[in-house]
Amino acid sequence: MPQPVTSKPLKDTKIFKPIKVGKVELSNKIVYAPTTRKRALDNHVPSNLQYQYYDERTRFAGSLVISEGTFPTPKTGSDTNVPGIYNEEQVKAWKKINDKIHANGSYSSIQLWGLGRTADPVQTKKEGQKLNAPSAIFYDEESEKACKAAGQELHALTTEEVKDIIYNDYTVAAKNAVAAGFDFVELHGAHGYFIDQFFEPCSNKRTDEYGGSIENRCRFALELIDHLSTVIGADRLAIRISPWATFMGMKSQNDETSPFATYGYFADQLQKRKDKGQEIAYLSVVEPRVSGIINIAEDEQYGDNGFLKIIWKGVIMKAGNYTYDAPEFKTAIQDVDDDRTLVGFSRYITSNPDFWQKLHDGKELTPYDRDTFYYDSNWGYNTFAFDGEDRKVDEKKEKANYPQPIA
Ligand code: PHB
Repeated sequence: MPQPVTSKPLKDTKIFKPIKVGKVELSNKIVYAPTTRKRALDNHVPSNLQYQYYDERTRFAGSLVISEGTFPTPKTGSDTNVPGIYNEEQVKAWKKINDKIHANGSYSSIQLWGLGRTADPVQTKKEGQKLNAPSAIFYDEESEKACKAAGQELHALTTEEVKDIIYNDYTVAAKNAVAAGFDFVELHGAHGYFIDQFFEPCSNKRTDEYGGSIENRCRFALELIDHLSTVIGADRLAIRISPWATFMGMKSQNDETSPFATYGYFADQLQKRKDKGQEIAYLSVVEPRVSGIINIAEDEQYGDNGFLKIIWKGVIMKAGNYTYDAPEFKTAIQDVDDDRTLVGFSRYITSNPDFWQKLHDGKELTPYDRDTFYYDSNWGYNTFAFDGEDRKVDEKKEKANYPQPIA
């Protein structure tokens, strides 16, 4: 269990000054960064538990929450009880959640999460899919063993299949997201998942237009952004990158190309689009203080995202263990000073539905419970109270409280 953390009142800082993102004006710069929670139904439809969870976390009007990773299509891999946005039932359930978020006066972004080579081989096979990835390279020995044990194949997508994923699968997912009421669509291009597997040389050995040079490795993400801009508008789009993360077998600074070069080119391409009037809503970056769900010790941290902020002049969202310098939150306050930076928090929002109010007023934060992050019941999910609320939680009952359809 992490130590309890307290916040000083931050209400008079720029964190609680409004900021425009895309067409939306937020009342504050704290964003709930995406967290995998596995509380959807078995068929990847969002559940009653998720409805309550997002309702409780959007009561501070004018806030932005980014959904947990949500599958755009079964083709980019699956895992158990993660929501999707590729069929009508999923759209209907998300719409109910978004209607509630909007009734609370807040906003939502959906994170489209393709897994590629990191997909769960058993669940993906159950859904009739191969493990589709840019190249047939396992991220470690264990994943290779698990794949073989499941009788699964790691399939390097053909050029045609890559285009089909852009122009059909992700396109349907983005349209569905808008129909479901999401204000933004964030592409998960970080942490060694599907899009990141195109970005970095260690997972991309393609010899077609989607591999080899920096331009080619960035092509998948840029082509996707260009196409989706014409479908839902650039101002609804966002992408998350993690130049320094070595999560899921990525090599980062130890790869053939420096992350400064790959992501510098990528950010420059986003800026060039902004200059031509195709400005995405925000660029989300993971700070070197974390890698996936792991904190990086100070003496092992490598890298700096400062270059991205020099190249990209639009809204930037930074995430990565901002609570380390509580109660002053000096880094977060410094980062938002330029009036174009959003600060992402995630772990403490899992355990503090009123996180925004607590930072605003200066209150103690309830410690999060990492062990329950991926439980399949309500235990460790909607069991955290608001400040001053006496929420009666019966552990045995909540451990048997499984996701149900939203009423
Ligand atoms: C995780 O579920 O472990 C996870 C998912 C997405 C991330 C990082 C970690 O970006």
